[in-house]
Amino acid sequence: MEKVKFYPVKGYIDLQKNAASNIEGFWKKEAAKLDWFKCWDKILEWEEPFAKWFVGGMLNASYLCIDKHLHSWHKNKVALYWEDEKGNTKAFSYFQLYREVNRFASMLKNLGVKKGDRVVLYLPMIPELPIAMLATARIGAIHTVVFSGFSSHALADRINDTSAEVLITADFGIRRGKYIPLKEIADEALKTTPTIDKVVVIRRTRESINIEPGRDLLYHELIKDAGDYVEPEPLESTHPLYILYTSGTTGKPKGVVHSTGGYLVYNYATYKWVFNISDESVYWCTADVGWVTGHSSIVYAPLLHGATVLMYEGAPDYPSPDRWWEIIEKYGVTIFYTSPTAIRMFMRYGEERIKRYDLSSLKILGSVGEVINPEVWEWYCEHIGAERCPIVDTWWQTETGGIMISPVPGLELVPLKPGSATLPLPGIDAEVVDEEGNPVGTGIKGYLVIRKPWPGMLMGLYKDPERYKMVYWSKFKGMYYTGDYAIKDEDGYFWLLGRADEVLKIAGHRLGTAEIEGAVVKTPFVAEAAVIGKPDPIKGENIVIFAILKEGYEPSDDLKKEIIKEVRKQIGAIATPQEIHFVEKLPKTRSGKIMRRVLKTIIMDKPVGDLTTLEDEASIEEVKAVYEEFKQMMKEA
Ligand code: PRX
Repeated sequence: MEKVKFYPVKGYIDLQKNAASNIEGFWKKEAAKLDWFKCWDKILEWEEPFAKWFVGGMLNASYLCIDKHLHSWHKNKVALYWEDEKGNTKAFSYFQLYREVNRFASMLKNLGVKKGDRVVLYLPMIPELPIAMLATARIGAIHTVVFSGFSSHALADRINDTSAEVLITADFGIRRGKYIPLKEIADEALKTTPTIDKVVVIRRTRESINIEPGRDLLYHELIKDAGDYVEPEPLESTHPLYILYTSGTTGKPKGVVHSTGGYLVYNYATYKWVFNISDESVYWCTADVGWVTGHSSIVYAPLLHGATVLMYEGAPDYPSPDRWWEIIEKYGVTIFYTSPTAIRMFMRYGEERIKRYDLSSLKILGSVGEVINPEVWEWYCEHIGAERCPIVDTWWQTETGGIMISPVPGLELVPLKPGSATLPLPGIDAEVVDEEGNPVGTGIKGYLVIRKPWPGMLMGLYKDPERYKMVYWSKFKGMYYTGDYAIKDEDGYFWLLGRADEVLKIAGHRLGTAEIEGAVVKTPFVAEAAVIGKPDPIKGENIVIFAILKEGYEPSDDLKKEIIKEVRKQIGAIATPQEIHFVEKLPKTRSGKIMRRVLKTIIMDKPVGDLTTLEDEASIEEVKAVYEEFKQMMKEA
């Protein structure tokens, strides 16, 4: 174990400091590693809090991810392997991917899609998803991928926020052997999305689906009329590459906008540092492309590097818990990137199954999305990495566009500490501050902030500059507020401690308490609801709801089922509540704000702490009594 954890540090910290003291010069060198159609005039235009990187530069993401590789031996190497849970496979060389992307781009043009238009992609984990993203980027349109586990309501909200005219979806997604009727869900959403004019449907099955004449078009029909080549549109560095929605502290998801130039430069540089990615890598990130991890780690970064990407459609343990290890062996995966939730799940299945597979191709293991507990880190290191592979615990966010705090074995492997994401990447000025924005010092919990702009940072929130300023730049003057708690230790290492705001992390997925509460009160019988996250040994957190019923309704299991149904309908299965408790009152401040912190301490059996702002003590007694009764019932069951 020592072998992995303690390498000599050769001035990494100096490198970090030098980069931070001259960020423009530092990022200029990184930007020069990409092929630009036109060089930038200015590296950074910083009008706090809006950053424009590589202003005046022109480039194209699709060109850089594909066309560029056609002029070398990469042309005939595998760009993308795809496999589903049944073992069906597809492989695309860079040339084949180029063909597909061009044809898709031509199809989009034939549909009238132009530069700057938003295209919504509601697709399962099939090769057409990255192909559609690259095709959209090729013509300068802006993609918005909506995770295919989201409900029709969530899809409609996102479509309406972007006012997109084109939606691309599939007839079905497939998970655990079941067909998920994506077209049917999309049809439901389309009842309330007036801007959508055309829906392109990718057929995967022969099952019958509804086709709305004039609106719905079949991909395999359209593609027959598509041309083989579409010139990649030279785009300004600041042209949006994509919008990706993420949960915040209000019910309305935020449309995070990423630029083309800054985002690509940042991801190109950081994937080299963190994963030591190269054209020889077989890179497997197990996230869904519908999340930011999938955008950067399945599509843009590995393809920029000419690596081979592996894309898997299916649940991790279906049809058996061997599935992932079988795949690593089969494809000789060299870099494996997953979430602590998945690792914790596999720990439960034991090591015997893993030993049956040859995982010796692995070189670097990554973790993302939530805090990795030291025991889980150790297990990952020992049983998957055979104590050979460094573990990169990568801290970042949808908004940061790329990895911000992580070990960087591709540059220099600093000593690892299980459970710590180690140090900020070069050029990243991260700090832990107190309520006033002053650094807290060693060993003290505070808020994680970033004090200088970086190329991967969001350009803003779609059509909402005020919300962008308010959410990220108003808590601390001149600093980007991450919404996370952290501690810095005596070596300057960062230990992430979870969210400081009302955002939950369920299996690494981000969900706002307000968003879930909004769904609960949509039922005709709930007057008010409070949502909190309860620690879960596998998923990190579970959703617990306290709800007040409207007059005339009595608590019952049927009402609980109705609430679960409504939440799944409004958001999706990822937001399925684990516990629902009915109460008469919720603990609130005198100004009427629900004190979720108090609810959390009660369910965790901890002292409730400072209650000076509490309106009514009786609410606490009631919640305590209801929760005690619940615990008793669980014990008896
Ligand atoms: O709380 C942090 C947690 O995930 C949040 C960002 O979520 P999202 O935008 O969905 O992006 C997830 C994947 C990039 C952060 O605010 N988080 C992410 N990575 C880590 C983490 N918490 C601890 N350790 C990490 N490595």
